Amino acid sequence: MDDNGTPLLSAGEIKAQVNEILIAVLDNPLNNLEWALAEMLNKPETLQMARDKLDNVVGKHRLIEEFDVPQLNYTKACAREAFRLHPVAPFSPPHESVTDTIVGDYFIPKGSPVIVSRVGLGRNTKVWDEPGEFRPEHHLQDCNKGEEVVLEEPDLRLFTFGRGMRGCPRVVLGSLMTTMLFARLLHGFDWSISTNQGTIDLCPGRGVPFLAKPLLVVAKP
Ligand code: HEM
Repeated sequence: MDDNGTPLLSAGEIKAQVNEILIAVLDNPLNNLEWALAEMLNKPETLQMARDKLDNVVGKHRLIEEFDVPQLNYTKACAREAFRLHPVAPFSPPHESVTDTIVGDYFIPKGSPVIVSRVGLGRNTKVWDEPGEFRPEHHLQDCNKGEEVVLEEPDLRLFTFGRGMRGCPRVVLGSLMTTMLFARLLHGFDWSISTNQGTIDLCPGRGVPFLAKPLLVVAKP
C-alpha cells in the first residue's frame, strides 16, 4: 500500500505474480531435470559419473541433504549443461532499456525493447566448444581450480536466471530446489532406458520447451 493506504497492486496484478511464481518454481526445475536425465541416458558414462561422484560425497547409507550441495559439482554441471542446451523458453522476457547502453559491440538506445536469445547464448560457437553436445565438462574448468559450480551465470555466457534489476529474484532457492531434486533422483534410483526404446528421442516439442515425446524410463530404487 502507498502512504494513503491505497493498494499498489490490483487483484489482477497479484494473480499474475502468483501465476508467474508458480511457473518459475515448477517448470524450471522439472524441465531442467527431465532434459538432463534424457541427455544422460543417451550418454551412460555421464550418468555413471554422476552416480559415482554422489556416492563419493554422500555414500549409500543416507539421503542427500542441503548441506551436501556445495560439494555436488558434477550434478550441478549436468543441470547447468541442460539449462545451456534446453532453456525453458527460447528468449528472455522482454525488457526496455532505461538509458543509452553499450553491451559488447552493440549500442542500445534508451527506450529499446530488449529480448535476449537464450538458445543463441547457450549455443554460441564463440563461447562453447562443441555447443550442440551435452558435456558437463563445459562447466568444470573453474571447479578444477577449486571453485564451486553454481547454476547462475554472472557473465551471461548462458541465460539461466538473467541478471540485474529484473533478473530472477530467487536464484538461491531455484538453484537449491533444482540441485536437491536432481541429486536425490540420481542418488536414489538406477535409471535405464526401457528395452524396446533403444535411445531417448531428444526432439523438442513444437513451441514448447519439453521433449516432444514423454520421457519413459525405468527407475529401480
Ligand atoms: C531453476 C529455477 C529458476 C530459474 C531457472 C529461473 C529463471 C528466471 C528467469 C530467466 C527470469 C527472467 C529474468 C529476466 O527477465 O531477465 C526469472 C524471473 C523471475 N523468477 Fe525465476 N527462476 C527460477 C526459480 C524461481 C523461483 C523458485 C522463484 C520464486 C519462488 C522465482 C521467481 C521469479 C520471479 C518473481 C521473476 C520475475 C522477476 C521480475 O520480473 O522482476 N524464480 N526467473
